[in-house]
Amino acid sequence: MSLPEFRLTAANAAPVTTDHKPLRRLHMITWGCQMNVYDSGKMSDVLAPLGYGPAESPADADMVILNTCHIRERATDKVFSELGRLRVIKETRAAEGKQTILAVAGCVAQAEGAFITERAPYVDIVLGPQTYHRLPEMVARAHRAAGPVIETDFPVEQKFDFLPETAPSAERAVTAFLTIQEGCDKFCSFCVVPYTRGAEASRPAAAVIAEAKHLVARGAREITLLGQNVNAYHGAGADGRDWGLARLAYALADIPGLDRIRYTTSHPRDMDDDLIAAHADLPALMPFLHLPVQSGSDRILAAMNRRHTADDYRRLIEKLRTARPDMAFSSDFIVGHPGETAADFEATMQLVRDIGFAQAYSFKYSPRPGTPAAGSPGMVAEPEKDGRLAELQALIRAQQDDFNARTVGLEIPVLVTGAGRHAGQINGRSPYLQAVHMDGPVSLTGQVVPVKVQGLMTNSLTATLINASPTQERASA
Ligand code: SAH
Ligand code: SF4
Ligand code: F3S
Repeated sequence: MSLPEFRLTAANAAPVTTDHKPLRRLHMITWGCQMNVYDSGKMSDVLAPLGYGPAESPADADMVILNTCHIRERATDKVFSELGRLRVIKETRAAEGKQTILAVAGCVAQAEGAFITERAPYVDIVLGPQTYHRLPEMVARAHRAAGPVIETDFPVEQKFDFLPETAPSAERAVTAFLTIQEGCDKFCSFCVVPYTRGAEASRPAAAVIAEAKHLVARGAREITLLGQNVNAYHGAGADGRDWGLARLAYALADIPGLDRIRYTTSHPRDMDDDLIAAHADLPALMPFLHLPVQSGSDRILAAMNRRHTADDYRRLIEKLRTARPDMAFSSDFIVGHPGETAADFEATMQLVRDIGFAQAYSFKYSPRPGTPAAGSPGMVAEPEKDGRLAELQALIRAQQDDFNARTVGLEIPVLVTGAGRHAGQINGRSPYLQAVHMDGPVSLTGQVVPVKVQGLMTNSLTATLINASPTQERASA
């Protein structure tokens, strides 16, 4: 750690706003996973006491934060191309006598560090995902214009101990993210996350429960617990023992008003019996699980260092379906990992046919600097990867369409998330994360209502309210 510890105190966090009008404006550009979305929210919260309120566009912003993702190819190029655009805006504003602080955050910032300010000297701050609790101090240093501020150490303190609660001005959202675990010790052959997010660390259960209660008090009815390996969660519990994710889920399910709990992303190896039992016991735990398997070939799973077989995964899905028969699954797949043959790819296709996914994401393998697979022999040619990806995506699309079609005619509980695009229309979310549109009053926002699914759109369902009175999902699910 190169810097003295920074704490948000009454002195340095004193609001500099009057009558809630922001003195300064912040524009946030967020790429990557849900954790980056959560982090962007936290960065806004940390800066709110300094008088920063939201800016619609970078041209209106006194500070722009680009929160980046490093997971696949050309991540760094994409950052520099966006920075080029922001540079023009910064220069235009400078000509009008306005200062603009430009910060690069997230996983590219962590991976590239000072290289970013070497190539783009107009960037004021580069900060990794573990240091954003120190943003106020970084901003102060950037204002003093003593050269770029670069903070990519993994500090000894946990940033969560220094973050303020979600700012009262933040938009009231019916669905919310909550990071409970961060970092990864799994070191899959292809993946940068252990290097950009650091070692696995879990937040204490009491801190998670307090944040969940705060979110519920602010209107959240569905909380998605986040972690790079969320089911490896092992936070200190109130009883002095380490709690696993199952124990935490039981505690969260007791919070009045918290109707729905989800968690992502899980690793098959950390899916223990307690967590499977929690799916049987807790109606609030939604019957939809993103459980990435990456490949259906044991040879490739071994090369990927996933440390389980395709049959282990099949058995796991079976156990979960036994515990909760209405459970649906999604996954991530990589095609063209080094060494993947046509037969390995066929094993992946077979696994997909065997499981039947409600949805899935698939990617072409992309070599990431510094990861073991990037230096492996047996690189798969690009046209071959393209062909496999197209074939896999067609199968996944067919399964997704089939899954959606099977919900037509069913009565399902939908969490109303707000007004729809057309007058009189409202939007909601099914237990399976499907977007649902229906006619109804906006006053139902935040309630779980029973609907009948009437039809399919490309990526959503249309439905009618069964009656306008809210239902208890716990009773109806
Ligand atoms: N922590 C999660 C996901 C991390 S990244 C997990 O363990 O599953 C999200 C997805 O991006 C991964 O599941 C993987 O399918 C994909 N991915 C990661 N690295 C990749 C790479 N080098 N090339 C292509 N896809 C990759
Ligand atoms: Fe990456 Fe594997 Fe860790 Fe997931 S489990 S974040 S894919 S290293
Ligand atoms: Fe991307 Fe970092 Fe998330 S690399 S996927 S933003 S953990």
